[in-house]
Amino acid sequence: MNAVALPGAADFRLTDLRPTPDTMTSDAFAGLSSSPKRLPSKYFYDARGSELFEAITRLPEYYLTRTEIALMESRMTDIAKAVAPHPHVVEYGSGSGRKTRILLNALVDPIAYTAIEISRTALLSSVQCLGEEFPSIEMLPVCADFTKPVRLPAPTRRAARTLVFFPGSTLGNFSDDEAVALLRSMRATMGDHGNALVGIDLQKDGALIEAAYNDAAGVTAEFTLNLLVRLNREIGSNFILGNFRHRAIYNADAGRIETSLVSKREQIVALGGRTFGFAAGEAMEVECSHKYSTLGFAQLVARAGLRVVNAWNDPLDWFGIRLVAPA
Ligand code: AVJ
Repeated sequence: MNAVALPGAADFRLTDLRPTPDTMTSDAFAGLSSSPKRLPSKYFYDARGSELFEAITRLPEYYLTRTEIALMESRMTDIAKAVAPHPHVVEYGSGSGRKTRILLNALVDPIAYTAIEISRTALLSSVQCLGEEFPSIEMLPVCADFTKPVRLPAPTRRAARTLVFFPGSTLGNFSDDEAVALLRSMRATMGDHGNALVGIDLQKDGALIEAAYNDAAGVTAEFTLNLLVRLNREIGSNFILGNFRHRAIYNADAGRIETSLVSKREQIVALGGRTFGFAAGEAMEVECSHKYSTLGFAQLVARAGLRVVNAWNDPLDWFGIRLVAPA
């Protein structure tokens, strides 16, 4: 724990459990040793990656964020009514905090806000802004990988309930088994009487989905390639950026967009004292984004001991928000 004082802002306690270079190196070893090769998408989110993701959310092709925000804004009264007053809000992967602001504004007397975010820069700037805007809500930032067990800070004032907030269809970045494990840990975090508010991207025309992950301006490609920039800087690998290209294809049978970095030529990459050979055209998997059906999502949460208590979709059924509770 360390106290962070930012000029003109309220101080808050930061719980800093950032992934270490050793963890990143062993994750990269494991991924590059498997077949097909893969790298974990959570490492996209360094300071630059979070900035690029923020730019993605404003792209014309990337319908997810604006659809979810419009859905939240239009249904916020119902959403706030369905959630118990005086909650401790715990957000997984909080990013810029745009959706958090909408939620905190509508809830009845939120006691505290815990943001669990892997990018320290994104975390500090969003919590600073939110702290200024909501001086009566205790800000409890936690810099951590939320897929690992995290001991949550206890609010000073007692909260009636815990509300887990997991928007953005971030759940989609996990395989079904991983998603169930994550939902189970959220089930533990919310306790017997809490809830979770989960944003999910819904299954739709594959061309729309593919366009969202292959934008004309190339921001998504830069976001994907930034993973290699980050690994080069933080764990000393020697990926040559120009030797890889971004590729995102919708797999309709699996209901997910599959993003890879494709090796443009035969090459050898060194990482932490080892070398890994790539064939020309070899694809390294870097991200999956699942798109859910109403039934598929309900079955997924059921496997984690949860049930859907409320469901809101935008008018085109592109994006959904689900309120889930212990079954
Ligand atoms: C982090 C889940 C919101 O999978 O759509 C955006 C990340 N990747 N463009 C997603 C992402 C490429 C994004 N989420």
